[in-house]
Amino acid sequence: MVSREDLVVKSLGPCRIDSPMLPLLEQRKRSYYNVDEADRVLFDDTASALAGRGVPVDQIPGFEPAGPRRKIFFDPSKTRAGVVTCGGLCPGFNDVIRALVMELHFLYGVQRIHGFCNGYQGFIPKYKRPVLELTPQFVSQINEQGGTILGTSRGEQDPAEIVDCLERMGINVLFVIGGDGTLRGAQAIAREVEARGTKIAVVGIPKTIDNDIMFIDQSFGFQTAFSTGAEVIQTAHAEAKASPNGIGLVKLMGRHSGFIACYSSLARNDANFVLIPEVPFALDGERGFLSVLRKRVQRSGHAVIVVAEGAGQDLTPGSDERDASGNPRFNDIGVFLKQRITEDFAAANLELNLKYFDPSYFVRSVKANPFDAVYCLRLAHNAVHAAMAGRTEVVVSRWHGRFVLLPIPLAVRARHTVDPNGDLWLSVLESTGQPPVFG
Ligand code: F6P
Repeated sequence: MVSREDLVVKSLGPCRIDSPMLPLLEQRKRSYYNVDEADRVLFDDTASALAGRGVPVDQIPGFEPAGPRRKIFFDPSKTRAGVVTCGGLCPGFNDVIRALVMELHFLYGVQRIHGFCNGYQGFIPKYKRPVLELTPQFVSQINEQGGTILGTSRGEQDPAEIVDCLERMGINVLFVIGGDGTLRGAQAIAREVEARGTKIAVVGIPKTIDNDIMFIDQSFGFQTAFSTGAEVIQTAHAEAKASPNGIGLVKLMGRHSGFIACYSSLARNDANFVLIPEVPFALDGERGFLSVLRKRVQRSGHAVIVVAEGAGQDLTPGSDERDASGNPRFNDIGVFLKQRITEDFAAANLELNLKYFDPSYFVRSVKANPFDAVYCLRLAHNAVHAAMAGRTEVVVSRWHGRFVLLPIPLAVRARHTVDPNGDLWLSVLESTGQPPVFG
């Protein structure tokens, strides 16, 4: 349950400085999607949820809308900004960096923008990472490439050491581009800043191909990732159809959330089976996955399987290993399924032509598609508006189609996953024809 208090965005103090964007704002008519800064974007979007709250209109929980403020907290001529990219690669990193720099420089007149390299390591002296001077000229073409010009790394670093670095360099606004682990790190930095009584705004931009951040319609990079996954599924389908008893098996990323697997599959409708972490499945038995698959191939001559990396982990021998972000290291469910399918067909004395596709890193290291490029740009613009207005411990979000400011503690409270009882999974069942339960 999300309360009104959960949605209150922290602020460094009153905004007393006229925004350099004022002339632009004065000319603008209020459009449908632009919500006035004093207004709120409702958290709930159904009549029953609103009625269920049983509170007067002014008590209904709502997000602070994102967007430029007429008065800002920081004096742009004296502002120094920092940018860092963290975690796994994601299409659009460079688009966000570019848009932050252009907006800060041209719209607000902020001249000093520093890029910290290799994630949070970039702030810690012992790593000796360089600091890049981000100018419009330096970033002008970077959105033509995938990856991140700043490099990245996994894992948190000591927030005290990070804030020491920010203070030494006189940084006032810090943009942190990353997923849930990164946002937890950003929260720790913001709290350290608060404890010291310093005035540094910490603003997140939601990155992850997994789309697993809560209270965000969609993280940037997700659409590019699933569009790329969809192309791989199409090629797997072509391979599967070309040979007798052909199977195209595609493993996609998605540790705890199967969004990429679901959306990639829905985009082309070529998948016959989609396996995700949120929906456990049995392999053996008359109604187990292997038997259903074998019958489908005997009936139709081919099949396409899409499996998310975190699916079926209970079926493979466990491991206690973790990566630098603290995520469990999974066994390769794709390789495991390939082996079990091969054994199953051999036991049934059936021909099998199985082609295994593992495009995991490919889908996240390509450059952003046009949708994500626009989304990255608009998220970045709104992150700059929020930071210059002194909002902190906040991540820019899009909620029900509107740009809003989401307090980081709420964003990291839980993980966004595919609801097995929800309409997305129903669409997958409808389009694949797979049974709702294996086993
Ligand atoms: O967190 C995003 C993600 O792409 C996951 O889907 C995947 O499990 C993970 O990163 C793998 O990242 P790496 O191998 O770089 O640690």
